[in-house]
This record gives sequence, structure tokens and C-alpha cells, in this order.
Amino acid sequence: MGSLLYLSRGDVEKVALPMEEIIRALEAAFLDKARGLAEAPPKPGVHPRRECFLHAMPASLPQRGAVGIKWVAGYPTNPKRGLPYISGLVILNDPETGLPISVMDCTWITAKRTAAASALAAKFLARRNARVLGICGCGVQGKTHLEALKVVLPSLEEVLLYDVSPEAARLFVEEMAPRYPELKFQKVSSAYEAVCESDIIVTAALILREAEPVIRKGWVRPGAFASAVDFDCYWTREALEEMDLIITDDEEQLSYYRSSGYFPRLPRVDGELGEIISGAIPGREDEKQRTMAVFLGLAIEDMVTALAILERARRMGLGTELPL
Ligand SMILES: NC(=O)c1ccc[n+]([C@@H]2O[C@H](COP(=O)([O-])OP(=O)(O)OC[C@H]3O[C@@H](n4cnc5c(N)ncnc54)[C@H](O)[C@@H]3O)[C@@H](O)[C@H]2O)c1
Repeated sequence: MGSLLYLSRGDVEKVALPMEEIIRALEAAFLDKARGLAEAPPKPGVHPRRECFLHAMPASLPQRGAVGIKWVAGYPTNPKRGLPYISGLVILNDPETGLPISVMDCTWITAKRTAAASALAAKFLARRNARVLGICGCGVQGKTHLEALKVVLPSLEEVLLYDVSPEAARLFVEEMAPRYPELKFQKVSSAYEAVCESDIIVTAALILREAEPVIRKGWVRPGAFASAVDFDCYWTREALEEMDLIITDDEEQLSYYRSSGYFPRLPRVDGELGEIISGAIPGREDEKQRTMAVFLGLAIEDMVTALAILERARRMGLGTELPL
């Protein structure tokens, strides 16, 4: 029957797939999706504890030779236990036979591919000369978003950081400032300060059913691009209504989530990331537009990233072969 390659979280981290490569892989995957060459049904979830989820995320991309599933958990109570908020596994299968070829930790993949998707949106929707990045929520996603956005927006000069936990903002600077000595980091004491002067806004706080939205009408300056990683939880409806162009990663999945009570404040979406990449709908059209990505996360991102990791891991001799 053969074997599969098991890659622990440490193995996946050792592969250290460069962010540039993840963004490229996602661009190809979203183009496939726009051309009807990808299959990724809306993710079903179970909820063993309040405000916690486990999602099953299958996808197939025949053009990329990628097929498999991510089984991912989000437990907002975990950081207090010294555990990651997001955890889980990816299973990759052989598209020819369906047999499993690899099982790997998905924590690193989720952290990086989510930010890569925002960066891909920024490539098409942000102003080329964007200078100031404002981040609300300085955890894992806050950090990977800086890494990914810097790849597509080398013009960035300044990062404004807001977190309800000043310690999280402090740790952000401690970890990221040495990696980006060319950037000026500034911790601010309100979400308003992180948003109102920023060209790029990332909200990466918590996804809660009973959210208390923070960002209000008039805060986002003309020409800004925003990525709401935490669904619409950080945004009032009036602030979202001010955005000129709102895209998502998959309208079918968004509708599925809406039908179960999520996104009560999101007024509309104007298209999908794949349609922007393929040119089916225009990206940014002028310097004044306020543009926005509201992505739920798609399994096509996980599968192409996991496959690239598997290929590198094999070359590097990493992982443990397990019999099937
Ligand atoms: N859309 C996607 O594909 C996707 C993928 C992964 C994670 N997420 C979401 O991204 C968010 C962040 O995930 P993470 O892994 O970075 O979590 P994390 O726990 O590492 O970081 C979250 C940070 O937000 C801070 N925070 C909480 N409430 C806040 C508030 N009101 N204002 C400012 N800061 C606040 C916390 O103190 C923490 O530092 C979560 O909502 C998660 O569900 C989305």
C-alpha cells in the first residue's frame, strides 16, 4: 500500500517556504478557481465549545496536482493555556489514486496563506505608493500580514499597532522590528489611531458571534485598502458601507456563512479575488477608492501551499515516513 510522509509543526517550519512563493502559488490557484478549474465546497464546521470551531476544508486543483483536506480548529481560549488559537492538520492525497501521500501540521500554513491571500488582494487593490500600515490585533495574523504585505508593497515605511493587550503589541515589535529595520514601528492606544492615517488596514482580532464592532464611518481615509481577517467583527455596517469595492475569496462560502448568522454587518460584495486576478472585474480604478478584502479562507490556498511544502520537505529529507 505504500507510505505517507508525516511533517510535524517543526518540520513544516524548517521547510520555511518563502512568502513570495506562497503568494505566487495562491495567485495560480485563484486563477484556476476563476476559470472553473478548482473544487472547494463551503467548509462545514462543528462547535464543541462556545465561540470555538473545527472546520473541514477539502479542495481539488487538478491543474496543480493538489488534492486534500484541512481539518482546522480555532479556540480563542487556547492562548491563555499557552496553546495556539489555530491548530490542525492537512492531509494531501494522490490525485491519481486518492491514497494519502502526506499528513502535516497546518498551523504555520494557516498563518502564512491567510496573509498571502490578503497580500494578493493588496497587489490588485492597494495604491502602489502605500506608506502606512495599521494593524488592529497584533497576534499571529498581524505578524504574517506585515510579512506578506511587505512583499507586494515595498513602499511601506511605517507600521501602527493596536491591540487590546499592550503586551501583544510589545511582542510584535520585539519580534518584527529586527526583521524590518527599515520600518518605523509605533504602538498606538486606540483602534482609531491605527486606522485613520493608514493606507493599508488589517483587522485581525477575534471572530465572535457576539462581536462589538469598532471601526466607524469616517475613519478610513480615501484611497486606503483594508483586509478584514476577522470577518466583519471589527467593522460597523456604516464603515463597511463607505467602502467603494469589497471583494471576497468565494461568494458561495460567504452565502453559506451568512445563512448561519455570520456577516450581519457586511452590506454586499462586488466580486471574488479570482475575478480580479483574471481581469473579469476591474481592480482599483482610481487613487481615491476605498477598497477591501473580506476573506473567509479557502482550502485551495492550503492545498497548494501544503503541496509546495511537501515537495521541499522531500528534497530536504525532512519528516517521518509512516506505513499506510
Ligand atoms: N479569514 C481567514 O482565513 C482566517 C484564517 C486564520 C485566522 N483568522 C482569524 O484571524 C484572527 C486572528 O487570528 P490569530 O491567529 O492572529 O489570533 P491571535 O490570538 O494570535 O491574535 C489575535 C490578537 O487580537 C487581539 N485582540 C483581541 N480583541 C481585540 C480588539 N478588540 N482590538 C484589538 N486587538 C484585539 C488579541 O489580544 C491578540 O493579540 C482570528 O479572528 C482568526 O479567526 C482568519
